[in-house]
Amino acid sequence: MNQFHSDHSLISPTAKLVAWWRSYSDIPYAKESSELSHAYTAVHKMMAPLQITPEQTLWGAPILEIRYKSLLREIKKSGIKQVMELASGISLRGLTMTADPTIRYIETDLPGITQEKLRLVETITGKSANSVRPNLIFAEANVLNPLDLDKAAEGLDPKKPVAIIHEGLLQYFSRQEKIEATHNIKSLLKKYGGVWITPDFDFRASMAQWGKMSPDTEKVLSAIAEATGRAMLSEAFENEIEFRDFLTAEGLQAERIPQFDESIKVTSASAANIPPVVLDMVKTSLILWKITLKS
Ligand SMILES: C[S@@+](CC[C@H](N)C(=O)[O-])C[C@H]1O[C@@H](n2cnc3c(N)ncnc32)[C@H](O)[C@@H]1O
Repeated sequence: MNQFHSDHSLISPTAKLVAWWRSYSDIPYAKESSELSHAYTAVHKMMAPLQITPEQTLWGAPILEIRYKSLLREIKKSGIKQVMELASGISLRGLTMTADPTIRYIETDLPGITQEKLRLVETITGKSANSVRPNLIFAEANVLNPLDLDKAAEGLDPKKPVAIIHEGLLQYFSRQEKIEATHNIKSLLKKYGGVWITPDFDFRASMAQWGKMSPDTEKVLSAIAEATGRAMLSEAFENEIEFRDFLTAEGLQAERIPQFDESIKVTSASAANIPPVVLDMVKTSLILWKITLKS
């Protein structure tokens, strides 16, 4: 396998894998998004080469639920009223958040999955996606293309700070791509001010934990790597020290926030039959990073 296939659209079907996992939760639109996008079929296709059933991957459900809910919590806590989501897949957080008219939300992803999402939103709302709400914009943007990002950011109010968020993107990136994405996000932060919130910096030192989630973890990760053409997590930062050194050199600083707290009700654990010991591991190990320009 090519270590890092140059075609990033190969990563897009993972948006359906996580959408299916979230369908076990009470996250708004999760069930509709999963069903309408035929996510189960996509998961089946992704896992079949490694003889894994979709059901054997379900330990991912509480991870994705906590990740989604913790990002929502931190956006709200920040008090920032405009959000630019990168690699947003079909999670439809923008649709949820813009029920509050004081929020402005720009959802971006690669062209193929964005087009699919537009149709999904149209089916759910009965309206053309970009006219569902004046405060919700769907745009195509490759995170590694600064021109795409600048164009998508035209929908932001330049006088207000922005929360730039993404979940489940950088795990697929080579180290060089992580650096490029960081440069592009930093440019947006310099222009608008605000904060970059993401769970996407995993460390090789803590990834050993993952094998304990299920006997199938390794096979599931291999199936994802095969399908995306990406040696997933192989170029993660070694540990928090290496990550913080990288940020400091980039003129950035990070606050480490546990994803789980008592405000989060994990509704997928019983639906997906997650053993309490696995749920406890998930609750204590997941981290979110709140990154800002160094003052
Ligand atoms: C695991 S999915 C996560 C989707 C969404 N954040 C979620 O949690 O449901 C990874 C996403 O990264 C997107 N992606 C991959 N490479 C990208 C790139 N260069 N620019 C923008 N999005 C990209 C894929 O299209 C896919 O939607």
